[in-house]
Amino acid sequence: MKEVKIETELKVYDDVSELPTDVQELMKSALEARENAYAPYSKFKVGAAIYLDNNEVVIGSNQENASYPSGLCAERTAIYYAGAKHPNAKILKMALTASSQNQITDTPIPPCGACRQAIAEYEIKQNQPIEIYFMGAKGKVVKSNSLANLLPLGFDRSFL
Ligand code: THU
Repeated sequence: MKEVKIETELKVYDDVSELPTDVQELMKSALEARENAYAPYSKFKVGAAIYLDNNEVVIGSNQENASYPSGLCAERTAIYYAGAKHPNAKILKMALTASSQNQITDTPIPPCGACRQAIAEYEIKQNQPIEIYFMGAKGKVVKSNSLANLLPLGFDRSFL
């Protein structure tokens, strides 16, 4: 038996204004996308904006359904849209913001496990890391240089 320790590396910015200007812009797109979330059940709105290497920005927001599991998170709405609309473009950056109607979301809100798995697929497909920036409605922003940092021991195509 041996013990294995897995470490991850993130950067924490105190505020959006500390981010590089292009990322601030991307976060602004995510915030705008968040406003169009359809979240009548959870009252938890999430916005995602993706910057591609063809200079295009693709957005997404969570879309809920009366049959709860039929809804989809913002991150997957956005990344599947990017895959459908720009299948040959590389995904360079992803900005995420979430806001709850029940409490002030002033801590960074990371993507759920299912979304991490979905983003990992594209990172592996393009063989290039995707920068992920996530926040609540205000306050600190976390940056991960790669999706892989957020999903240790991931399942991928190499196992198939
Ligand atoms: N949600 C997202 O859009 N992204 C996540 O990473 C976590 C959760 C959505 C799904 C659902 O509409 C609402 O937030 C509450 O879970």
